[in-house]
Amino acid sequence: MAALLVYRRRMSIPAAECIALEDRFGAHNYHPLPVVISKGEGAWVTDVDGGRYLDFLSAYSALNFGHSHPALVEVAKKQLDRLTLTSRAFHNDLLGLFCKELAELVGLDRVLPMNSGAEAVESAIKVSRAYGYRVRDIPNGQAQIVVAGGNFHGRTTTIISFSDDEVAKADFGPYTPGFVTVPYGDIDAMRQALAQPNVVGFLVEPVQGEAGVVVPPVGYLQAARDACTASGALLIADEIQSGLGRTGTTLACEHEGVTPDVLLLGKALGGGIVPLSAVVTHDEVLGVLRPGEHGSTFGGNPFAVAIGREVIAMLRTGEFQRASTQLGAHLHQRLHHEAPGTVERVQGIGLWAGIVLKESAGPARARCEQLLSLGLLAKETHETTVRLAPPLMISQQDLDYGIDLVLQALA
Ligand SMILES: Cc1ncc(COP(=O)(O)O)c(C=O)c1O
Repeated sequence: MAALLVYRRRMSIPAAECIALEDRFGAHNYHPLPVVISKGEGAWVTDVDGGRYLDFLSAYSALNFGHSHPALVEVAKKQLDRLTLTSRAFHNDLLGLFCKELAELVGLDRVLPMNSGAEAVESAIKVSRAYGYRVRDIPNGQAQIVVAGGNFHGRTTTIISFSDDEVAKADFGPYTPGFVTVPYGDIDAMRQALAQPNVVGFLVEPVQGEAGVVVPPVGYLQAARDACTASGALLIADEIQSGLGRTGTTLACEHEGVTPDVLLLGKALGGGIVPLSAVVTHDEVLGVLRPGEHGSTFGGNPFAVAIGREVIAMLRTGEFQRASTQLGAHLHQRLHHEAPGTVERVQGIGLWAGIVLKESAGPARARCEQLLSLGLLAKETHETTVRLAPPLMISQQDLDYGIDLVLQALA
């Protein structure tokens, strides 16, 4: 206890104690790399001992604009002094503007603001079911949603019900019914599933992030669009990780000129400062919701949407999408030409790569630990893949420095 009081008076406590406290008093639901970060600026972070690291993970793309982007921090500070929360019992003076600007950015009509990504997915499931019952006259309680194998949409009870990741799922049943899984990228299987009765939607990641930055075959999203249009099912694109510049376009769906019926955003929408997610649809889809049927105390709070509006303004310039395209091409070109023999293949798009290691290379986790010791933050996904997602504002010099470290650690 005396030791804890001393900690409270200090600016920060030593790394080993930070980790020990988390270990003793926190739930063990993550397996973080052993670094304790206390400051972040741009593409760089500093640990409690003053060590500097180049961030090649960007909080799973929530930090697309880097740490402490000055424009975002300024908006946040101003809004903190003005108004942070009203609940949706009342209106606030920013929510309408945020909804309008976000809908315009992505070419849709209406926005439901939430907080975490999983909440946006849950909201989309509810709205799609209600749309099926109220607009398409599907018998109540019979709605089916088609999902893709290898998906990651979050970790709530309903979402894990249609995950094939046993770690996330195993002891958490009973599971929510109403989901049909087809292999990701398999156009025929998707078409067949969508042609079945009572299907209200196809929920899909345009690029599967957690699966290892898996890009589907060319034409997959367009085929999904066509099959959904033909069957009346909603195309529900989960762009929580792939969206907002990560793949070189505002949305990954744009690579195939596809507009989903239901678009899910999160992560970078909150500028790396606040949790802010959204369901964005045509009028008739979110139009099914009636007062009291859905909501969240913090959803659409003025603090979050003030930051969200600045994120939208930054994306409107196209600067981050262009950087992602240019730097992403450079990243992939270098990885393609210089990858050592430990690498099975490199996949991805934009400033986003999954480096799949050969089995003989050992676990990806060990490579990430080695990268950490070299001063670079990256994280494994599954056992064999090192995922890279540097912030989109990174300089080419820093990017090259990071790629050099990655190549060194993988050799
Ligand atoms: C595609 C996708 N959907 C949903 C989620 C869940 O988001 P959150 O962790 O904010 O609940 C994630 C998180 O990684 C994701 O990558």
